This record gives sequence, structure tokens and C-alpha cells, in this order.
Amino acid sequence: MPRIIMGIESSCDETGVGLVRLHDDNTVELLADEVASSVDQHARFGGVVPEVASRAHLEAMVPTVERAFATAGLKLSDVDAIAVTAGPGLAGALLVGVAAAKAYAAALDIPLYGVNHLAGHIAVDTLQHGPLPERCLALLVSGGHTQLLLVDDIAAEITELGSTVDDAAGEAYDKVARVLGLPYPGGPPIDKAAKNGDGAAIAFPRGMTGPRDAKFDFSFSGLKTAVARWVEDAERRGEEIPVDDVAASFQEAVADVLTMKAIRAAKEHGVDTLVISGGVAANSRLSELAAERCAEAGLHLRVPRPRLCTDNGAMIAALGAHVVAAGRPPASLDFSANPAL
Ligand code: KG4
Ligand code: ZN
Repeated sequence: MPRIIMGIESSCDETGVGLVRLHDDNTVELLADEVASSVDQHARFGGVVPEVASRAHLEAMVPTVERAFATAGLKLSDVDAIAVTAGPGLAGALLVGVAAAKAYAAALDIPLYGVNHLAGHIAVDTLQHGPLPERCLALLVSGGHTQLLLVDDIAAEITELGSTVDDAAGEAYDKVARVLGLPYPGGPPIDKAAKNGDGAAIAFPRGMTGPRDAKFDFSFSGLKTAVARWVEDAERRGEEIPVDDVAASFQEAVADVLTMKAIRAAKEHGVDTLVISGGVAANSRLSELAAERCAEAGLHLRVPRPRLCTDNGAMIAALGAHVVAAGRPPASLDFSANPAL
């Protein structure tokens, strides 16, 4: 069975290369996790520009692979299998990673696996907290996704219980940051400002929490609009914007809805473990409130460290290791990226 697995990630603005070792007991050890980000090149546009991201991946791919091998003290010929993000993501960006992965797999004559980026965000937690239980619930919150997933087998069986009907949670952070004049990406500066604010200062709406709303779906566009309107009204009245309070109140609304629905889903599906991952899992209030509410509900909470929560290659390598361990057949070299996977 392959032992050293390389993971390649290029679905959005991060070029990630990870190396892991799959042990006999199916635990997965992190050997290297190198990321080159083009986030600075997108900052002035307030969001990721696909063409810019693709070009950046092209430039960063080989140097990032080389850095990963240098960090791990390994040679290319030590790798036994390659996993690459097949989707979902930006088409052009994905293609760069898939082409690179195919080239390495063909040159080294080793198996290649196309894997799902979202499953990777969950699998990465096994690098920090060990194997997942038989069944768990995952709350995936990033700039592109907000989903509640029931995970029966990380290598094969994941059921979507709900997702956002409009903006992703991270997207809402980025848009609200813009309204408040904070830099992109908006998560970190809002998180920081919120620490000096009062989360109960402004009662922003909690989307999709009414009795007739789909139980496990989310909506953040109403919240984003409510924040924008609140700020506009205050400006019209000539008032100074209490950025810290607005940030804290917005953050409270997001954390409240995410944890409320995650815990409801865990209870309803009889699972005792909640994994929160994706870029927004780095949010301090979200993890704090999740810890509080999970303790109350008797749930075990797993949140990977922030470095593992944002896009990286280690998550793809970790998922690749689980796929290899499960004995799934590799992809043929003519497989293609699937932006809508
Ligand atoms: O997972 P990720 O790196 O990339 C995607 O797959 O989208 O997530 C990026 C998102 C951005 O929207 C960013 O604003 C958000 O994660 N984010 C945060 C924090 N750190 C990053 N949101 C809230 N609080 C944070 N501390
Ligand atoms: Zn992601």
C-alpha cells in the first residue's frame, strides 16, 4: 500500500502542496504543508479574480512542490501516490493543479487520485486529532462554502444536510468588512475589531431560523444587507460608525446561527462529534460559542488549528491517504477537473 502521499490543492487562491505518511494503523502523519497564496493580488478587487489566481498557481506550483520536499527531507521518488483537488472550485485554477498532478504521477509512474476539496477540509482534522469516529457531523464554513455534512466515511460517503441558499459565511465576512472599511479578506480584521466591541449592541437578523425555513440551510445575504443598511443610516445621521460594535454584533449573528443549526443537526442525526473546518473556523467567537454549546449538548467538538482550516495541500494529502487506505481505485490519467463537483 502506498505510504507517502503528496496532495496538491489549487481550487481557489492558494497553491498548496502537502506530504503525509500513512501508517499501518491508518493514522496519517503530516510531513510538509507548503502554501503560496495569491490573496494579496486579489485584495484591491475585494474578491478572488479567477484569471489572476490561475496565473499565480502556474507560477507557484513547482516552487511550492520543491519547498514541500525540502521541508520533509524527501525526494520526489519517495512519493507513492498523488491526490489532487478535482473540484469544486475555479475551473482554470483547478486545471493547473490537475495538470501538475498528472505530470508528476506519469513521470513517477504512481497512482493518482482526484478528490473533493470539501471532504479535504474535514479530512485535515485527522492530522491533528486522529481518526474520525464512525459517524460525525461537519460544519464547513469558508469563503466559498457553508455546509452541514453528515460524514459516514470520509473516503466515500458524505451526505449534505444543508447549505447556504445565497452567500457563504466567509463571503459575508468579506462583504461586511468592505462596508466597514476593513481590508480583504474580511474575516481576520472583523474578528479583531469584534474583540473590542459588544456582540449584543445591535440585534442583526438570524437568517433562515424561522419555523418554515429549511432546517439545515443557511442564508447570510439578509444579514449582510442589514449591516450595510445600519451603517448607511448611521452615516446619513452624521454619526460616527461604531466599527467594533457592528463587527461584534455581525459576528455574533453568524456564530449564533452556525452553531445553533450544527447542534440541531447533530442531535437529530444522533451523532456525538462535530467537526468545524474551513477558513471561517478560524473565527474566535465561532469556536468559543461552539465549545460552549457543544459542552451543553454533550457533543465532542473538533476544530483543526487555523493553519489547517484555510485552504492547503495537507488537507488533500490527508484525504488522499484515507482514500488509499480505503482501497479506492486510482483515477486514469485522462480524468478531468470538475468545478461543480
Ligand atoms: O477556506 P478558505 O481559506 O478558502 C475558501 O475555500 O474559501 O476560507 C477563506 C474565508 C475568507 O472569506 C475569510 O474572510 C474567512 O475565511 N476567514 C475568517 C477568519 N479567517 C479567515 N472568517 C472569520 N473569522 C476569521 N478569523
Ligand atoms: Zn476551501
